[in-house]
Amino acid sequence: MADKWSPDSWRSKPILQVPEYPDQEALASVEQRLSTYPPLVFAGEARALKQQLADVAAGNGFLLQGGDCAESFAEHHPDHIRDFFRVFLQMAVVLTFAASQPVVKVGRIAGQFAKPRSSNIEKKDDVELPSYRGDIINDIDFNSGSRIPDPSRMAMAYRQSAATLNLLRAFAQGGFANLDQVHQWMLGFITDSPQGHRYKELADRITESLAFMRACGIKSDNVPQMRGTDFFTSHEALLLGYEEALTRVDSTSGDWYATSGHMIWIGDRTRQPDHAHVEFFRGVKNPIGLKCGPSLTPDGLLELVDILNPDNEPGRLTLIARFGADKVFDHLPQLVRAVEREGKSVIWSCDPMHGNTITAGGYKTRPFDRILKEVEAFFAVHRAEGTHAGGVHVEMTGRNVTECTGGARALTAEQLGDRYHTYCDPRLNADQALELAFLIAENLKKERDGRKAEPMAASA
Ligand code: PEP
Ligand code: CO
Repeated sequence: MADKWSPDSWRSKPILQVPEYPDQEALASVEQRLSTYPPLVFAGEARALKQQLADVAAGNGFLLQGGDCAESFAEHHPDHIRDFFRVFLQMAVVLTFAASQPVVKVGRIAGQFAKPRSSNIEKKDDVELPSYRGDIINDIDFNSGSRIPDPSRMAMAYRQSAATLNLLRAFAQGGFANLDQVHQWMLGFITDSPQGHRYKELADRITESLAFMRACGIKSDNVPQMRGTDFFTSHEALLLGYEEALTRVDSTSGDWYATSGHMIWIGDRTRQPDHAHVEFFRGVKNPIGLKCGPSLTPDGLLELVDILNPDNEPGRLTLIARFGADKVFDHLPQLVRAVEREGKSVIWSCDPMHGNTITAGGYKTRPFDRILKEVEAFFAVHRAEGTHAGGVHVEMTGRNVTECTGGARALTAEQLGDRYHTYCDPRLNADQALELAFLIAENLKKERDGRKAEPMAASA
């Protein structure tokens, strides 16, 4: 694609999943105002993330990406942010410690407000209304006024993202993420967890390791990496007017960056190579993700890889596979082989959520065993192909919600109504998220052991 790129060049392309704003003047005015607001992230931070992801692409490290399906204005509360961050760090500790891999931490947070929908219409009884498209666009209440796209919501989403990001930055560097603290949380979790002994065992081993390191003079007082952690933000950059307004030139490099979050991704419904979303993404230098669902062919993928990462820059492109537990073996191996054959540098990540959504008890849900099965299949494919299973992408919360069935507490479809809070898709609760982390850690260990065994096998 030789055409010149600019932050608004997407506007001349066909586009899917966009709201129809009745008041175009109000829309233009909000976008203009947003374009004068401070960036939420700096280009240098996005580059630092890309560097860490380049290591993952090279087989060293693992990308942990997760958070709400959709953030909401009503649930904007410091406790929710804290609880999410705590469980997210717990997962990261399990992965780092059990698998001895550096974990790159990227939240689906501080910007995850716009939602693609399978249908433009939502029907309840005999009433049909436009679908809810995320709080940045319209209101979830089921009445006609609420569903009208309102551009002033973009400014609210921007301000909420800024406040959320501010707290996350404070948590990450201000003492909350100190490794000694993380261990305390593990202990707190053990007391009422069904898999208590498993967590306790890990917590004890961490204590032992920290004590040993302290005795050697390595402690959080003198090692900054133990006092805090890098934490990055990400969201699906679906609402391109908002994204364009926050796209800025980096003065140090002269390159364009999306400053709405460190990493942005293209959804499975908006990845047409000649459409607006791909056009926008090709011009920004952030690390980006591309959702890969069952309709993506190997040639289709290679075409997108060439458009989105023409220089084959490591860390630039994360391919997020989301096929459904039973479809992984039908789709993933051929995509992995095509990418390998062409020598493309990518990170393969597994989204075990979006291909496994069903309806049960009147709720949209995801059976936890299907989620585990998709992750297992993802790792199995990479083991068979000799490629690195580089990451996982999950919808999760730190709260004790009842949205996905199953897990160690064997949540039933009848219990879904107890604490079903999501604004869009069902999320893993804290227990389920941690259980998943243990499963991933086991698989990462297998991959690592496999790599160690290779040279011996070759010389035998
Ligand atoms: C999502 O990540 O919330 C989403 C809508 O995913 P996908 O584009 O893979 O369906
Ligand atoms: Co979702």
